[in-house]
Amino acid sequence: MSTVIAAADEIVELMVEVPQGQVLRYDLAALCSALDIDDPTRIAVETDGSRRAIVTIYPSNPLADMPPPTLADMLMDRHGRIVVGRYHNGRPARRRLFDPSTGSAQRALVFGTTGAGKSRIVQYTLACEKRNGIVSWYADLKGGQSAPEAQDNVDWPATTQEETILMLRSAVAVAQERQRRYHALGRNAFMIGDPDPLISVRIDEANRLLEKGAPYRDEATYLVKELGRTGRSVGVGEELDAQASHLEELGGSDTLRAMLKEGEVTLLRWSSSMMRQLVSDGLLPAGEQLTPIPKTIAPRVLRSQFDVDLDDEDDAPGTQGTGYLLSSPHPTSMMRHFRIGSIAPTPGLDPEILALYGPGEPARLEKASHAAAGEAYAARHDPVAMAALCRALQDEQEQQNKTIPAAGGGQPRRSAARLGDRILAALAADGEAMTAEEILAAVLADGGREVRIGSVRNELVVLADSGDVVRTGRGLYALAR
Ligand SMILES: Nc1ncnc2c1ncn2[C@@H]1O[C@H](COP(=O)(O)OP(=O)(O)OP(=O)(O)O)[C@@H](O)[C@H]1O
Ligand SMILES: [Mg+2]
Repeated sequence: MSTVIAAADEIVELMVEVPQGQVLRYDLAALCSALDIDDPTRIAVETDGSRRAIVTIYPSNPLADMPPPTLADMLMDRHGRIVVGRYHNGRPARRRLFDPSTGSAQRALVFGTTGAGKSRIVQYTLACEKRNGIVSWYADLKGGQSAPEAQDNVDWPATTQEETILMLRSAVAVAQERQRRYHALGRNAFMIGDPDPLISVRIDEANRLLEKGAPYRDEATYLVKELGRTGRSVGVGEELDAQASHLEELGGSDTLRAMLKEGEVTLLRWSSSMMRQLVSDGLLPAGEQLTPIPKTIAPRVLRSQFDVDLDDEDDAPGTQGTGYLLSSPHPTSMMRHFRIGSIAPTPGLDPEILALYGPGEPARLEKASHAAAGEAYAARHDPVAMAALCRALQDEQEQQNKTIPAAGGGQPRRSAARLGDRILAALAADGEAMTAEEILAAVLADGGREVRIGSVRNELVVLADSGDVVRTGRGLYALAR
């Protein structure tokens, strides 16, 4: 490449292409070296995935200073999109909260290493949801530390593993209830507000719920998958926010593959294992490259030991919030999210973030789904009642985790399988199709351990998937023959 000569304050844009039959690949370090650029954030390389690329060279990092969002950015456009920040070229970066053309709620994933800016994005999205009348259920597996301002601005804030499981169970039950209701109404597509609001279920630090060894990993994985499957067409969306290096830990790649393929994926600063995973999962085509995002934008300066000692600048500006919107029309174009709240830590709640949410109550779940959402939803603002429900869930889990020796020796089997057996026994004894409630009553009468309707419903879905049970009509289950 010939030398590029530009005035210090000029932006240089190079359109490059390789001959037909070749795929454009580049080595950012080599490119920077060729152009004598010591700060990689001054250069943006956007490829079309095959032969062409635009290389833009800026006098300084174009995303160094991000403004806060405006109210107009926060309101959904007619395509259900909000503006989340800017691309390096100043164009608005948009993310979809809803797809009005298909009536689809969105599945979203936000990945980034620790401190990359995930929770600020969560706050912004939650504030946008509030402003757009969307019902937000928000679980923070960091005990509520990630986004304290969200507490009173969402319909259901959850802060523990147990509460998150209860929330996910309720969400699945609400989606099923909506399916039943819409079916009865002869509806085949979801429309916001007619009759129900859009719901968004979000789990920050989702890796803590889904990683190996997490106490409710199996059920959480199942519920996340189930919600992804049933929620989309009935206005219940979901989002996972997680640390990048844990992709393979998020309940197994199976759970996420569908979400990754069809969902709204935001990738913040990543680790190399994350990048390998994205490529091996087919999310990034092998030829496609993303310019890495450094942690700070301070160029590395070599200093001789004989130089006069200048203080090392530790406080170089960071790149938090910088990333790629992989499912947007510009997946390889570096963007940065708006600055949300004050950068310096604030004592107590951040007034700037509270202002984003605006005054008033957040949107609430429709009355028609309260029964389906169950006791946990009713108890969501009642710490004592919620603690009791969480304890019951812990007990349930402990029972399930106690392995019991299988009859005749052999491998111990988990008593988790027993609920399935008890349901099958109840159905066999009755001989007729039963509702989940009738099955629960029969199971509770068999003298075994206490279970709840949510577990029975979940187990019925597992049994139906495995072919042991069939759905014979609306809400009725029978033994498969
Ligand atoms: N868009 C942004 N612009 C400027 N600074 C930001 C932006 N987003 C985040 N920051 C800064 O980065 C810090 C870390 O952000 P945040 O807590 O959102 O990261 P995180 O990815 O959730 O980290 P963790 O893994 O620790 O939960 C914030 O306290 C804030 O100072
Ligand atoms: Mg966080």
